[in-house]
Amino acid sequence: MTAPTPDTPLVLALPKGRILKAAAPLLAGAGITPAADCLDEGSRRLRFPTDDPMLDVVRVRSFDVATFVAFGGAQLGICGADVLMEFDYPEIYAPLDLRIGACRVSVARPVGHGAADIPAHWSRVRVATKYPALTRRHFAARGINADIVHLHGAMELAPVLDLSQLIVDLVDTGSTLRANGLEETETIASVTSRLIVNRTALKTQPERIGALIARFRHALSATPEHEAATA
Ligand code: PRP
Repeated sequence: MTAPTPDTPLVLALPKGRILKAAAPLLAGAGITPAADCLDEGSRRLRFPTDDPMLDVVRVRSFDVATFVAFGGAQLGICGADVLMEFDYPEIYAPLDLRIGACRVSVARPVGHGAADIPAHWSRVRVATKYPALTRRHFAARGINADIVHLHGAMELAPVLDLSQLIVDLVDTGSTLRANGLEETETIASVTSRLIVNRTALKTQPERIGALIARFRHALSATPEHEAATA
């Protein structure tokens, strides 16, 4: 990776979709004003200037925020704890829980299968998920081998179309599960979004990156807990 130099803009990676909207008030609270089309999902631009000539923003898929930061393409990012658990990148430091995007990673299966998600005598189970590593770890801890069907969306279709017995996915309101004849059987982890930074960048430019972390911390302290949790 190329470490940023003091005379080049830092890059903050933001996730597309619902977290981007939830992050907007925090960015404002941190005094970061990206170009107006950054929050417009219709815009095809991927990199945006901000009102600070030494800070740019890039808009990428939520899973890719962690990868851009781990490889140093972006020095900071906003990333779900689910993604951090999946990749477990040692290069990433997550100093702040931003208290937005609250949801959970859960196991679900078709309704009407009794109490247990997995019959006691099973030693393997087929699971559709976008979290292969997290899912394998979770079932391995229960002594069960998870055969992973790796999907990037529409996991809820997998049990119905016989691709898998279970799914592991994000659940917020539960309406996607209900609409597809599934029920949650187990919560693996609670999820919120985190501010993440590249450790090397933080070591080489502690003042600039530390100042940005402090601005997010200040924005958080000005946001009442209950408002952040529902964002
Ligand atoms: C997530 C997740 C579920 C849905 C859960 O998908 O994968 O499909 O949200 O939300 P709910 O419990 O409120 O129904 P998202 O909309 O983020 O899109 P994705 O499929 O691209 O991940």
